[in-house]
Amino acid sequence: MRIVICDNYDEMSKKAALIVASQINMKPNAVLGLATGSTPEGMYRILVDMYNNKEVDFSEVTTFNLDEYYPISKSNSQSYDFFMKKHLFSHINVPEANINIPNGEACDAEKECEEYENKIASFGGIDLQILGIGQNGHIGFNEPDEFLYSNTHKTGLTESTISANSRFFASAGDVPKNALTMGIATILKSKKIVLLACGKSKHDAISKLISGKITTLCPATMLNVHRDLVVICDKEAYHG
Ligand code: F6R
Repeated sequence: MRIVICDNYDEMSKKAALIVASQINMKPNAVLGLATGSTPEGMYRILVDMYNNKEVDFSEVTTFNLDEYYPISKSNSQSYDFFMKKHLFSHINVPEANINIPNGEACDAEKECEEYENKIASFGGIDLQILGIGQNGHIGFNEPDEFLYSNTHKTGLTESTISANSRFFASAGDVPKNALTMGIATILKSKKIVLLACGKSKHDAISKLISGKITTLCPATMLNVHRDLVVICDKEAYHG
């Protein structure tokens, strides 16, 4: 694991955007794994600027998002589908056919998850996966538990995550109780992983991740087995 400690959010976002752009410049048809949430918003803003300045071209890129609430309609402004269009996809030239997000409108969640997992495999896996981290150490929607799932699956959200995400909804009662998410093995099969974390509220989860101890009660600690993980965080997430 490599740890990069930044002075602030902007520096973290810039470093992450440069890694994504380099990945695409090295491999124009790169397969990217993308995250939502407030942490990567700055990185997406910088990538849009880089695209406008012709520093990166997304025309051959394929994307797979980590997760989506379930059930949720794509037109709901809190869906991750809506988020990705708002922050990235409607500003760059990635073809719509190359964009993959678990379908929160699917009637059969299990079938959707199985097809999603198979589709990632059919592309030869993810070249670069961007991750955020929950205050409780979740990655994607793999929540702390006695056991974790390997593959893309439907999962319930914990009270901690519902309460953290309620800031985006009218009330905690409006946060969907389930999600579709890549599993731990889906994430670990990515060739390179960049995890972003910002702010004191992430300190506990980051400390557990970098302690090197692995526990399903802090899913991010599973990343310790990955050969090519870079953690880019600000001072507050690192030092508390
Ligand atoms: C989002 C995701 C989540 C977030 C995590 C942190 O696609 O997979 O694991 O990365 O909840 O969210 P923020 O960045 O809002 O603190």
